[in-house]
Amino acid sequence: MKEAGSRGLFITFEGPEGAGKTTQIARLVEQLSGAGVAHVVTREPGGTPLGTRVRQVVLLEPDLQVDPLPEFLLYSASRAQLVGQVIRPALERGEVVVCDRYADSSLAYQGAGRGLDAGLLTQITQAATGGLKPDLTLLLDLDPAVGLARAATRGEPDRLERADLGFHLRVRSGFLALAQQESHRFHVLDATASADELAEQVWNVVAEQLRTKAQAQSI
Ligand code: TYD
Repeated sequence: MKEAGSRGLFITFEGPEGAGKTTQIARLVEQLSGAGVAHVVTREPGGTPLGTRVRQVVLLEPDLQVDPLPEFLLYSASRAQLVGQVIRPALERGEVVVCDRYADSSLAYQGAGRGLDAGLLTQITQAATGGLKPDLTLLLDLDPAVGLARAATRGEPDRLERADLGFHLRVRSGFLALAQQESHRFHVLDATASADELAEQVWNVVAEQLRTKAQAQSI
C-alpha cells in the first residue's frame, strides 16, 4: 500500500486536559481555509459513527467500569475506523488532516498514565493504523493542575478529568518523553501563552511544513 502521508499532510494536536487544543484547532482551520488549503478536521475518540459511539461509552458514562486494557482497545477500535474511513482517504486526496488527539494519547494516558506496557500498545496501534504516523504533532504542554482547573470551568468533568492529579502528571511526563523520542515530528508549545501567540506559533510551524511538502512534490 502506498504510504498515505506521502501526499497529504497529517497533523495531530496532543496535550493534557484544558491545554486549549480546541481553540487552536479552530484557529488553524481558519488559517488553512484562508490560505485555500483543502483540509479535514477530525478527532479521537470520534470522527466516524463508530468512533462517536466509542466516545459515548468511554468518556460520557462516568460510572461504567472500563479497565485500562479494554479502554485502550476501544480507543484503538475508534482509531482503526477513523484511519480507514477518514484519514487515509483524505491524505490520498492530498489534503491536510488535522486530528484532535491520536495514538500518542494512548501512549501517554493508557501507557504512562495507567501503566499498560508500551510495547503492547505500540504493537496494537501498528495493527490499528497500518503504521500511519502523523507528519507533525503539536504538543500543547501545560501543568496539569492548571489544565484541570481550566477544564473544570467547562462544566461536568468526564471520566478522565475525574482521575487524580498523579495520573495527569504521569500523562504529561509521558507526552514529553514521546516528544523527546520523536523530536523530528513533535513541536512542543507552551500552552500558558496567549491564544493569539499560540495560534501564530502553530501557523508558523504548519506553514513551514506545507512549504517543505510543496517543494518535495515539485521535484
Ligand atoms: P475530550 O473530551 O476530547 O477532551 P480533550 O479536550 O481533553 O481532548 O476527551 C478526550 C479524552 O480521552 C481525554 O481525557 C484523553 C482521553 N484519551 C485517552 O485516554 N486515550 C486515547 O487514546 C485518546 C484518543 C483519548
